[in-house]
Amino acid sequence: EKGGYDYFMLKEIAEQPRAVADTLLGRIDASGSLRLDELRISAAELREVDKVVIVACGTAFHAGMIAKYAIEHWTRIPCEVELASEFRYRDPILDPRTLVIAISQSGETMDTLMAVRHAREQGSKVLAICNTNGSTIPRESDAVLYTHAGPEVAVASTKAFLTQLVACYLVALYLGQARGTKWGDEIRAVIRDLSQISREVGRVLRTMEPVRELARSLADKDTVLFLGRHVGYPVALEGALKLKELAYMHAEGFAAGELKHGPIALIEEDLPVVVVVPSPRGRSVLYDKIVSNIQEIRARGARTIVIAEEGDTAVEPYADHLIRIPATPTLLQPLVATVPLQVFACELATARGNEVDQPRNLAKSVTVE
Ligand code: M6R
Repeated sequence: EKGGYDYFMLKEIAEQPRAVADTLLGRIDASGSLRLDELRISAAELREVDKVVIVACGTAFHAGMIAKYAIEHWTRIPCEVELASEFRYRDPILDPRTLVIAISQSGETMDTLMAVRHAREQGSKVLAICNTNGSTIPRESDAVLYTHAGPEVAVASTKAFLTQLVACYLVALYLGQARGTKWGDEIRAVIRDLSQISREVGRVLRTMEPVRELARSLADKDTVLFLGRHVGYPVALEGALKLKELAYMHAEGFAAGELKHGPIALIEEDLPVVVVVPSPRGRSVLYDKIVSNIQEIRARGARTIVIAEEGDTAVEPYADHLIRIPATPTLLQPLVATVPLQVFACELATARGNEVDQPRNLAKSVTVE
């Protein structure tokens, strides 16, 4: 049942191009517009939405963080994202014009379910993004957009995350399309890019041998740090979470801009630091800043592991290890940038002799609060 792979996690990582393609299937029509009639929320209702609140836990929360960038950019609707376990205990401000999006692979996570119930009690509409047909969270929500990742068995979430991202982009673009923002042309272009992206995920997977080798060489380290900005920040958090879960290592993700507000004190000789670099095109200010962050940490002895777009030569002098990813629109980059971090964590766990599919102390779905 592992299809020739040693672990479910490896199989699920490899299934990502298909999972991404399946999640897009039937949702983009021949004219390149999105068709999400399955949401059962009318365009008129969507035009009424004046705030979006995303609730989720763990990896799904990281997908939600990325969704916030996409939703606010393409729709101009304010969007908050919150850990489901924090949300309902702080008396959040919700009303019928708030759209709450609950993201959950299993559809059974108790913290997320409680947040859904709380939101509906306040009269908000809840849209579930979920991978498990007929599970509790979609049943208790007003609408559901299923991710079509197929069953995810490994405790560490991989293909579910990529498909959650796809579903979030679809919702963001659909909201943008329904409300007709000034980004109409960009939205159409991104829908085209999204429809090609599974091929790019496949390309990343075919170049992972150096990443595995690097992971094995770091098996005796105690700490790995991850840095990113903009959508690279949640990717950094996700890379760190994977490493904690699987390799039982101290791993932390930071927003690169926060470095000088504290974390740079952690940098010491030979400390591995993974940096997710945004595209050099378009957002040049952000790009320049992260390149100088890389220089700063390297000057203090860090071993820099740089994830950068193909063709980005400016980072080369500062990268002790360079991991290449295909060029994508900025907001879609997490779909390709996360994959090497999954492979990295899986290989490190294996090298440390850990049980990859069933890490200690963890359950696949957390059905208690
Ligand atoms: O089933 P859910 O998506 O609601 O699960 C949420 C988290 O428990 C889950 O993503 C967890 O963080 C994973 N083990 C991460 O790999």
